[in-house]
Amino acid sequence: MKKFAVIGQPIKHSLSPRIHSEFAKDTGVDISYEAIEVDPKNFKQETIKLFKNGYEGLNVTLPLKELAFGLADEISEMGAETGAVNTLWKDKDKIFGDSTDGKGLLEDIVNNQISLKDKELVILGAGGASRSIIPSIISLGPKKVTLLNRTFDRASDLAKQFGNKGVEVEALRANETPEGKIEGIINTTSAGITGGNFIFNPKLFNEVSWTYDLSYSKEATPFNKLAKNLGVQICLDGLGMLVNQAAASFQIWTGIEPETNRVLNSIKSSL
Ligand code: ATR
Repeated sequence: MKKFAVIGQPIKHSLSPRIHSEFAKDTGVDISYEAIEVDPKNFKQETIKLFKNGYEGLNVTLPLKELAFGLADEISEMGAETGAVNTLWKDKDKIFGDSTDGKGLLEDIVNNQISLKDKELVILGAGGASRSIIPSIISLGPKKVTLLNRTFDRASDLAKQFGNKGVEVEALRANETPEGKIEGIINTTSAGITGGNFIFNPKLFNEVSWTYDLSYSKEATPFNKLAKNLGVQICLDGLGMLVNQAAASFQIWTGIEPETNRVLNSIKSSL
């Protein structure tokens, strides 16, 4: 049996053990997968101990992704671009790191028949989650990506970092709106958008076809509720991204690509 785990803090409510068990069932690979709480203070020693104790791969979640980036001996190109990794594995004496969040988002966007090619997009937020998806978004060839963030400098730094890859990336202040027709808005902020504390300009939603909220909940997320109220037809949440990033990790570890649709529907109906 191959041993895997997700590490983070807090970790109790992680859906990853459930998702990976379903992948294992579907693919016939014999695995165990646990959720293990790891304090950032003990990250390095705990992670090394887990690999010593026979774990072959680890998923890494908040707040440990940057620490995992620092620990890995070899980092994938995507991990290097995003400065954070969510997937670790050991091969011989080396620890490898990759970031599958962006791939997970892309797969889910494609599964929902959304095309980003030559479209103008807005990404709300400029923290770790935003950074983890921008390279993948750019790879789909949008016409322009506008980053809006409460702290302008963080958006501006990301625009500088990712603005030289053949796609225009601009940073604006939180209450500004870009010129041109916005096709879709991706929310990466951790802001609870309740009680009217939405700091971005509602005019953003005027002609938008779809929204994607990286967070998820049983009901529509507060961000997607707002989008629906403002007339947006397609409002997706991050559960599909979660299942698809897990599938990418599973494939790295086992060499087998699991089917995600059935698992996504099963998880959705049990939230
Ligand atoms: P994550 O890894 O989830 O992205 P993070 O790096 O702490 O976490 O970034 C959180 C993001 O949510 C940031 O874009 C943050 O804006 P600031 O850069 O100005 O801090 C955004 N955010 C958090 N609380 C917010 C709020 N109440 N309103 C708007 N944006 C908020």
